[in-house]
Amino acid sequence: MALERTFFIIKPDAVAAGNTGNILALIEKEGFSIAALHRVQLTRAQAEGFYAVHSQRGFFGELCDFMTRGPVVIGALQKEEGVAAWRTLMGATDPAKADAGTMRKLFGANVGENATHGSDSLENAKIELSFFFAGHDVNPSA
Ligand code: RTP
Ligand code: MG
Repeated sequence: MALERTFFIIKPDAVAAGNTGNILALIEKEGFSIAALHRVQLTRAQAEGFYAVHSQRGFFGELCDFMTRGPVVIGALQKEEGVAAWRTLMGATDPAKADAGTMRKLFGANVGENATHGSDSLENAKIELSFFFAGHDVNPSA
């Protein structure tokens, strides 16, 4: 077991719906420590850079429109095996396929508007934490 820090986003749909507090409460109930938290409006360049891995996908423009249409909450979560634990708590990308009790089942609307983001590996967690918290007092390592 290793203590890991992962990066998360509460996406614009969930912030607009007033679910920030509900999501943070469930995160803490599941034993994560919230190591950083920041409400921010992403720029188009930030959204495109963050999701650059999907730039050739058909949904890329729609995804960047969505991620910039309102404020998001970004942060760092810490827990034993935290990267996988947060992905499990988020549930499947498509809320219709997500397990009961997961963030996406509870708060997501569809495969595009699915309430939360989580890093998919420890390596990407470090990259994503550096992307958003460079220059701040958030240690990107566990
Ligand atoms: P995320 O990166 O946001 O944590 O989501 P994920 O790993 O579960 O899924 P990924 O394949 O990385 O997709 C990134 C985000 O793009 C949007 N998406 N839309 N319309 C579509 O078919 C579609 N597919 C993906 C979602 O917002 C997804 O979370
Ligand atoms: Mg992803």
